[in-house]
Amino acid sequence: METLIPIINRLQEVFLTVGTDVIQLPQIVVVGSQSSGKSSVLESLVGRDFLPRGSGIVTRRPLVLQLINVAPLEQRRQAEHGMMGGEIMHWRWMLVFADFAEIRSEIEKETERSSGDNKGISPEPIHLKIFSPKVLNLTLVDLPGITKVPVGDQPEDIEAQVYEMIQSFISNPNSLILAVSPANSDLATSEALKLARDVDPEGRRTLLVVSKLDLMDAGTDALEVLLGRVIPVRLGIIGVVNRSQHDINTQKSLEDSLRGEQAFLQRHYPSLAARCGSRYLARTLSRLLMHHIRDCLPELKSRVTALSGQYQARLSGYGQPVEDHSATLLQIVTKFASDYCNTIEGTPRYIQTTELCGGARICY
Ligand code: GDP
Ligand code: NA
Ligand code: MG
Repeated sequence: METLIPIINRLQEVFLTVGTDVIQLPQIVVVGSQSSGKSSVLESLVGRDFLPRGSGIVTRRPLVLQLINVAPLEQRRQAEHGMMGGEIMHWRWMLVFADFAEIRSEIEKETERSSGDNKGISPEPIHLKIFSPKVLNLTLVDLPGITKVPVGDQPEDIEAQVYEMIQSFISNPNSLILAVSPANSDLATSEALKLARDVDPEGRRTLLVVSKLDLMDAGTDALEVLLGRVIPVRLGIIGVVNRSQHDINTQKSLEDSLRGEQAFLQRHYPSLAARCGSRYLARTLSRLLMHHIRDCLPELKSRVTALSGQYQARLSGYGQPVEDHSATLLQIVTKFASDYCNTIEGTPRYIQTTELCGGARICY
């Protein structure tokens, strides 16, 4: 089933070439309040250290992150072409990196270029591709967090501007929303869930990630929240433990962090450990994304057909040959639909949240 995703990634490349965002492709978008742990969650999904993280406003531009799974051999081949670590795509050019620390500093530079160096924000996305044998095939979007009080060069209406930026990504019905809410603050006040509800009132494409399980007050735990008894979330509720600021400062590795997370879950939430944690989150997302893509295909195809019609009209208007990218698009979508879609059997899957398991159970 994982073979579905490279096709969508290819589609996105073609759309970028055509220079259109007419067709919006499925992607996973993290939302939440500032410092809830959005960038940390994304980083552990990717399995690499490369995102700027930290207290205060660190993420100041949308980051569109395309993860591309390659076999180790393929990765070596790409390394020879200078494509191992990742690439940042700019408007017309591409930077190629082999080193993840370099990617982080380039993201920081890119952020400063368009948003200044004093906490300003910008809606212009940074595009980044990561090639690795360690990632699942996913497109992820990191966003600035919701913040109320302007600091530095931030505009008076910072809250409204960030809200609008987030809305522009999550209102896309092809987006899966990863609402990140810290365990040490009341779920009823969760900005992430509030935003998600606005665009997805039935909760068909919202998954709740409860971060900072390790930071709860002594004598409290998140069991009721994780079981969905406080606020039920249709697609599921997954608790995680990311690296703390101290872990970041002391450069704790991601592997150590994942091991520590698993040990923490076993110790504090033994009945839920198998359905919590960053690895379980990655698997759940991958499956959700594939189902989502399949459900979106008919709509996608009719949009490409419409686009193709527009191109044809423009072509005859010019009365001269123009490269017709839309035909390629249609071919890819059609091939995708016929070759791959039918290989997923059965009726649509529904994700059930049950009291017993709390997190998500995927029923086939
Ligand atoms: P973002 O602003 O939502 O992108 O949050 P970041 O990922 O940048 O994290 C903000 C701060 O919270 C950093 O100092 C992280 O180390 C810390 N943090 C994030 N998740 C956790 C967690 O699960 N446990 C602990 N102890 N700290 C966390
Ligand atoms: Na932050
Ligand atoms: Mg961030």
